[in-house]
Amino acid sequence: MRKRLLWVLGLLALGLLLVSCAPNASQDSLKPEGPYAQTIMDLFVPVFWVAVAVFVIVEGGIVLILIKYRHRKNRDQMPAQTHGNTRLEIGWTILPAVVLAFVTVPTVAVIWDLAKPPPADALHITVEGHQWWWGFRYTDSDMMTAYDDQAPIVAADVMVIPTGRTVYLDLSSVGGLIGGDPEQADYAVIHSFWVPQLAGKQDVVPNRTNHILLQADHPGTYYGQCAEFCGLQHARMKFRVLALSPSDFEAWVANEMQPAVTPQDELARQGAELFANGVGSGGQCIACHAIGGVNGGVNAGPNLTHYAAESHLCFAGCDWDTSDIEALKAWLRDPSAVKLGAKMPNYHLTEPEIDALVAYLMSLT
Ligand code: CUA
Repeated sequence: MRKRLLWVLGLLALGLLLVSCAPNASQDSLKPEGPYAQTIMDLFVPVFWVAVAVFVIVEGGIVLILIKYRHRKNRDQMPAQTHGNTRLEIGWTILPAVVLAFVTVPTVAVIWDLAKPPPADALHITVEGHQWWWGFRYTDSDMMTAYDDQAPIVAADVMVIPTGRTVYLDLSSVGGLIGGDPEQADYAVIHSFWVPQLAGKQDVVPNRTNHILLQADHPGTYYGQCAEFCGLQHARMKFRVLALSPSDFEAWVANEMQPAVTPQDELARQGAELFANGVGSGGQCIACHAIGGVNGGVNAGPNLTHYAAESHLCFAGCDWDTSDIEALKAWLRDPSAVKLGAKMPNYHLTEPEIDALVAYLMSLT
């Protein structure tokens, strides 16, 4: 019995050790890449060592006493009891209070620090959590599109930011009926926005706006993940933050301000036609997906105006790279077959329709 228990515990420990290993961990909060993540790291390290000291002293004391006073054959007397020792009682009441104070003071300071209003030059982005993808709306006055009465630039799956500048996020959870079918409803549920290398977690709650600050010091791609169970595809509700140098960011903004390009290629033109006017089965892509300059306002699904832009690294909750054409075809063929429960309806597209739609989407740079 005891042997079996030891085996189980050993295997459990080994399992834990193995799952903690990753050669290129992309969501590692211990490798901060910006000042806000660094602030959290600078709190984590001392608190961690305090916890280690407490663990070693307490557990060490328990093990020591277990060994020293364990039952032995010719030992039939109880060891001396310390019950009612006033000095000891006071000591081990005060000591933990002092330890807690050492942890509390810097923790509260960091909480206040991270809750401060953003600096005046911060970039404002509204983040919308959907089942199961992230939408980003750039609400600053210098980020308005050149069409559609100057609406904010809208993107999905990839949040593009400039390096070295604070980004202030307004986070909320949104949803709605898609095509009037409750099965397809994108329910407004609680999500959690988390880019481990850039900031802490923040809950994304319906009918409420939460905020978080983040900043990236270096250009690069930072991986994000929904961190609150929100339904079937919670684990695949991912996103990426693409940090560009200020000049590259300006170029990105200039492109995003433009309406979608009009396709030149014949197949892509057919795709545009299907997209705007409905497919053979009667399905309407445009009822959920906005294409800048073609239709405005709808954002039940990701905005696809610049779907094939270099910055749009991934699609459908960042499950697949945008360059993966076969994945896009499979997704269009039957969304729920590759992502169970996906809210995009299956329009039973024919293969020629899929080819045309893919050609159109891939022309939207
Ligand atoms: Cu959204 Cu989990």
